[in-house]
Amino acid sequence: MTELKSPVNRRLVLVSGRAHPELAGAVARELDTSLVHTTAYDFANGEIYVRFAESVRGGEAFVLQSYPAPTNRWIMEHLLMVDALKRASVKRITAILPFYPYGRQDKKHRGREPISARLIADLFRTAGAHRLMSVDLHAAQSQGFFDGPVDHLWAMPILTDYVRTRVDLKDLAVVSPDAGRIRVAEKWASKMGECPLAFVHKTRDLTRPNSAVANRVVGDVEGKDCVLVDDLIDTGGTIAEAVKVLMNAGAKGVIVAATHGVLSDPAARRLQDCGAREVVVTDTLPIPAEKRFPQLTVLSIAPLIARAIHEVFDDGSVTSLFDGNT
Ligand code: R5P
Repeated sequence: MTELKSPVNRRLVLVSGRAHPELAGAVARELDTSLVHTTAYDFANGEIYVRFAESVRGGEAFVLQSYPAPTNRWIMEHLLMVDALKRASVKRITAILPFYPYGRQDKKHRGREPISARLIADLFRTAGAHRLMSVDLHAAQSQGFFDGPVDHLWAMPILTDYVRTRVDLKDLAVVSPDAGRIRVAEKWASKMGECPLAFVHKTRDLTRPNSAVANRVVGDVEGKDCVLVDDLIDTGGTIAEAVKVLMNAGAKGVIVAATHGVLSDPAARRLQDCGAREVVVTDTLPIPAEKRFPQLTVLSIAPLIARAIHEVFDDGSVTSLFDGNT
């Protein structure tokens, strides 16, 4: 009996939604490949049309979308692209969500609420995604919402490598802007040479979106350079308040490091005026010119995503990119 052998090598199919073409282009360049030409447009009533201009049959597909506002539109476009890939007979689909939308609603805080982060995972599974790839989930355990492999990438090495060159390592404190992110701040502290930790005690009004009050610092920050770390900056309220509390507590200076620069209004103004020496984010979301300000530094996430795509495509190890941590 003749054995049936695969006649072709696997083909990497890289496609992107319209939300952040610069990031998709940068990922393609890192991989030394090109994006599959895609038609995408809106109908008059807001419905979206997508079509790939070339055959993708048998390919290993990676479909990238970023989530600036309006988030819901880009989610729908992403899902339609996954559906189109499935119906075009690709072998495997990895949906890449550098910033996971609705990640903050990962549990019911009060009765009669949805678990939106779970619904997003279900939508991608239903559309046909075999695996998800995302950077710095708001809560790492949200990986479990998707019934399939999830590559949870860390931006921390990119951020720490940069921040280390911008602070006084001898007199440093890593600060979490709320009690919920202390675990992440701990990892930062260890990366920055086991420096001391502090956190800002923050309270929220659950009935009002994007409202938080920073009350006081727990830990010693007097005379220290502080690195204030968060997963995302949305309206900038959390960070701006925390910077003020740190400066009032005698910090020498504050540098902010966050993975996702959502930067909804009035974040740019708040961050510019809050007293931080520098605000460092990655480009998991596009940051248009009108949201940029002098203290803002944007680091590229493209090399990390490209390396992870490479590992998945080659059946290698994504975990190896993070010293065995996930
Ligand atoms: C909260 O748990 C998050 O980690 C962020 O600190 C928060 O969502 C940022 O929102 P904003 O910038 O609007 O205060």
